[in-house]
Formats: sequence, C-alpha cells, structure tokens
Amino acid sequence: MRTHLCGNVNENIAGQSVVLCGWVARARDLGGLIFVGLRDHSGVLQVVVEPENSAAFAVAEKLRNEFCVRVTGQVRLRPESQWNPDMATGKVELLAETVEILTVSAPLPLLMSEEDGEEVRLKYRYLDLRRNRLQDNLRRRARLTRSIRRYLDGHDFLDIETPILTRATPEGARDYLVPSRAQPRSFFALPQSPQLFKQLLMMGGMDRYYQIARCFRDEDLRADRQPEFTQLDLEMAFVDEADVQAIAEGMLRATFRDVLGVELPGPFPRMSWSEAMQRFGSDKPDLRIGLELVTVCDAVRSVEFKVFSGPANDPGSRVAALRAPGAASLSRKQIDEYAAYAARYGARGLAWMKVNDPAAGLKGVQSPIAKFLDEAAVHGILDATGAAAGDLLFFGADTRPVVNAFMGALRLKVGRDLDLVEPGWRPLWVVDFPMFEFDPDEQRYYALHHPFTAPAQPDPESLRASPAGAVSRAYDMVLNGAEIGGGSIRIHDPALQQAVFDLLGIDETEARTRFGFLLEALRYGCPPHGGIAFGIDRIAALMCGEDSIREVIAFPKTTTAGCPLTGAPSVVDSQQLDELHIQLKPQQ
Ligand code: AMO
Ligand code: AMP
Repeated sequence: MRTHLCGNVNENIAGQSVVLCGWVARARDLGGLIFVGLRDHSGVLQVVVEPENSAAFAVAEKLRNEFCVRVTGQVRLRPESQWNPDMATGKVELLAETVEILTVSAPLPLLMSEEDGEEVRLKYRYLDLRRNRLQDNLRRRARLTRSIRRYLDGHDFLDIETPILTRATPEGARDYLVPSRAQPRSFFALPQSPQLFKQLLMMGGMDRYYQIARCFRDEDLRADRQPEFTQLDLEMAFVDEADVQAIAEGMLRATFRDVLGVELPGPFPRMSWSEAMQRFGSDKPDLRIGLELVTVCDAVRSVEFKVFSGPANDPGSRVAALRAPGAASLSRKQIDEYAAYAARYGARGLAWMKVNDPAAGLKGVQSPIAKFLDEAAVHGILDATGAAAGDLLFFGADTRPVVNAFMGALRLKVGRDLDLVEPGWRPLWVVDFPMFEFDPDEQRYYALHHPFTAPAQPDPESLRASPAGAVSRAYDMVLNGAEIGGGSIRIHDPALQQAVFDLLGIDETEARTRFGFLLEALRYGCPPHGGIAFGIDRIAALMCGEDSIREVIAFPKTTTAGCPLTGAPSVVDSQQLDELHIQLKPQQ
C-alpha cells in the first residue's frame, strides 16, 4: 500500500514520488492551501494540498484528526526559511497528488495529549497508543526483551514455558483463582511466579532455564505494581551466588548497552541488607542521592527528652538523623509539610534542628526540642551528622522498622526537593537478607524472600535453634532506588526444607498438601541450584524515564485492578457459574 514511511522522508529523496499511509495528526486550511500533518509509527510529515489539484483538495477539505489516509505525491524541499528543526522531516514536505480516505474517525473522545486523564487514556488505549510517548516506550521495551533473549540464548539458557493454570505459589500475595469445571469445587491458581516449576526444571536436568513469564498477584497496586506483570525468570543448576550474579549482571550490562547505549558502572557494588537499612532506611537505596541516615543514639541516650532517650536505650529501636544541606532557610510551614509526609510513612512526630553556628553548640542551634537537650547531646549530634551552618537536621525516633520506613522515605523526598539526585545509573546488589521476619502481632515468622531460599547456615538444627538471626542466600538487584530483581540460592536438602516450613508454621500436613510434589522431588538427587527474576516492566520504565510501569505496558490495569477498555473483570451469566458449580453470595 505504501512506498515509504512518513518519518523516513527527507531531503535525500526530494523530487521522488512516494505513497504514504497514516493518520491525520492535524489538518489546517491556510488561505487556500491545506496543510496536513501525516503521522505513522515512524514520525510525522507535512503534506501540502494545493487548490489547483481540485480532486485531492476536495478530499483534503473533509479531513479531520485521526482519519486514516493514503497520500501519493512528490517530495519537495521546503524553502530554507520554512525549515522546522523540531521535526526529523522538517526540511521537506509532500506535495499531494492524490488523497484517499481509508477510514474516517468519529470525533475523538480524548485530546490524545499529556492532559488526558488515566481512566480515559486506558478506556481508549488504542488511541492513546498512537501517541509518540507510548510508541517509543513499547519499541524500547521490545528492544529490551530482544536483547535479554539474545544474551541468554548466547549463554546456553533454554527458553521453557511453565503452566499458567497451576497450584498456588507462595510469593506473599493473594492468588488469582480459576475454578475447574472438570473437577467440581477445585480451583487452579494463576502463578505468582514460576518459582516451583523452575526448581523442578533443575531437578529435571535442564541446567539453565529462562522464560519471559507473566506473573499474577492480587495485591495492593502502586505505580510500580500491576496485578499481572512480566518477569524475566531464570534458574541455573550447580551454581552459587557469584555464578547467578555474574550472569544477571552481564545480562543487565548488555541490555543497557543495546537499548540505551549506556555502559553501566561495574562491577556492581554489594551491600548487606542491614547496612542498607542503617544508612538509607531502605532495602532498595537510591544511591544517586548522597544523603544518609545517621544513628545518634549515643548522643541522646541520657537526655531528658523521653521520645529520644527511650528508643536510644532500646536495642530494637533507633534514633536517626538526616542532614538536609542548606535547608535551615525552610519555613515552619515547609517543615510541617515534611512532618506530614513522614507521618504517611508511620512517623509519630518529626523533630528538627536548624544549625546556625555549629561551633556554638546548644546556642548555635534552633529547635523545638532544644530545651530538652544539653550541650553534650547537641555536640554529639552535630559531630555525628557533620552538620554545617545553614543545614537543617530531621530526627526520627521509634522502633527500627518504623524509623527506617519514614526516615528512608524522607531521605528520598529531601533529596529530590533539594535537587540532590545525581544523573546516571547506580546499580547495587543487596545481599545477606535475614531469612525470616517476625510478625509480633501474629507471633510468627514470615519468609523475607520465599520459603525455598537457602539459609547461609545449611544445618537444619542450628537454623531451628536461632531462626531470628538467620541470614539467607538471597540477593536483590536495585537500580536507582527501584528493586528490579530478586533471587536466591535454593534449598536442595529435604530436611532443611522441612525445617524452614516448620519455622514458618507450615505443619507437615499442610506442607504435604501444598508442596508435597516439591518435597518428593527433593528426594531424588536434586542438584544445588539458584536463580533470579527481574521485573521487566520496572526495567522498561526506568529505561523510558517513566515513573509508572503502566506507561510501558500496552494494556495495563487501573489501581482498582480493572481494565476500563474491556470492562474486565465482569459479571458472568448464571449458566457459566452453574457449569463451574459456583453459587454467588447475595449482595450485602
Ligand atoms: P520477586 O517476588 O522478588 O521474586 O519478584 C521478582 C521481581 O519482579 C518484580 N515484581 C513486580 N513488578 C511489577 N508488579 C508487581 N506486582 C511485581 N512484583 C514483583 C520486581 C521483583 O524484583 N520467584 C522469585 C524470584 C526468584 O527467587 O528467582 C520472585 O518472584 O522487580
Ligand atoms: P512532643 O513532645 O510530642 O510535642 O514532641 C516534641 C517534638 O518531637 C516535636 O517536634 C515532634 O515532632 C517530635 N517528635 C515526637 N515524636 C517523635 C518521634 N517518634 N520521632 C521524631 N520526632 C518526634
């Protein structure tokens, strides 16, 4: 139907006759001449229709935005005064010979610009997708997956599919269930990840597996979370952490080179989970921001301010300071806004201190809590934080997890607000995670990664003896503050696996019903193995400079896990429910 793409028409083919197809980006009648912006996936080209060409002109007069058209004509150079440096095709235009309307468009239900709201964008996603931003994003995402496949194919990985209709896999979210018609009262669960199958593939002697796999998790959605998302999932037999990390790092390096032409700094630094929590209040620190949390427990251990001295003397708690360079000029109102922000992350208060003259100690600072502090405490704080005149210090005091959560969030906000985010890419391995997290409300342990992750100490008895301090062989890859991948070396000893199930409160009967097939498989010569999974949507969003992964997914879901385009999820007719042996509860 066409000889060229709009975006490829340039001065090199001036004088040539071409046939183009595309959409009307806009049509303007300028005193007799009609100018049409003709757009296809490659770009936009200006088409000129002259009144002398009465047949073409009559058609052009009918054109409205998003009509789909075919235009023939001759490429001609624009006079230099009319060059448009903002367009790749800005030195030329197409003098139309014929204009043919392929299909008309109804008046548009959205502006097709950045001003459109998300609901309408998703409802008319096929129109939204015509925009440059999404065209570029999806092209870049395709380059990413192509590059990943090329790398892994070149390293002897087999691309193997695993079931979508399966049993529940424990990644910590709720399952999406699918009722079985053939087996009444039974349900499939959609996989939260291919975790168990990839382990079984290693037991099946497959050695190196990968899959670009869809995962399903019914959890609260955020900018970086979708109910169905895509992982690059991989697993390797006869490996340790260093082997998996070398492949993962090599792959990420290759994809950044292929897709962005960027050379990632290397080798990626490694940081223990506890160091990350201590210095950044987060297990996915954004290293582009130089600010760090500083523990000031020693300085405030004996002050009369109980909000500080209490946590300072409690081993499970922490008093941490964050230095905001040059922020002493912030107003009370601005400081209160930071306190409100911290409160959203669990802060019960946010003490602060303006530093006017650090050498003057207590007299040189201004703070609502100064009256509760003594000279030694202020000196200790100023020393520990290295605060200079003009700085503002924020303080968080509470249990460790609470302080880390709100001070970590505050660190990011202050870093962004003060323009302290350095450009570039800062990858990082976070390692040495705790095996378990204790939930004091439910008085039980949870797996920080998943229950198949091996502990650093492989003896089941010592694990049972001190689960609280156990460190796992898990690793996360973090890039610019986003957790883009996570994996671990797996348990390959059935006794150790049983010990972990026990500690997680999964009793033998439950373990046998839920994971019996895995425990059974572990009995037949399981190779030591490990792997990792990357969030493709998150990597694509980072590569596209997008804050939300919805911008790199063709048909994403809304924050209420629905699809405005298709109206899914939807009610189904009673006959379908009957076949599935399902009866709905009456509406409340
Ligand atoms: P994990 O649960 O850490 O590990 O997931 C791996 C990576 O997948 C991405 N991710 C998500 N992306 C978008 N929306 C979501 N809801 C979502 N949840 C996770 C993250 C994350 O780092 N089976 C293990 C991997 C392994 O042990 O090999 C697993 O799924 O980028
Ligand atoms: P109060 O004694 O509750 O009026 O608090 C005095 C100051 O300490 C205020 O600036 C509070 O914001 C701050 N504050 C209270 N609780 C905390 C906390 N857990 N961490 C940090 N600062 C706090």
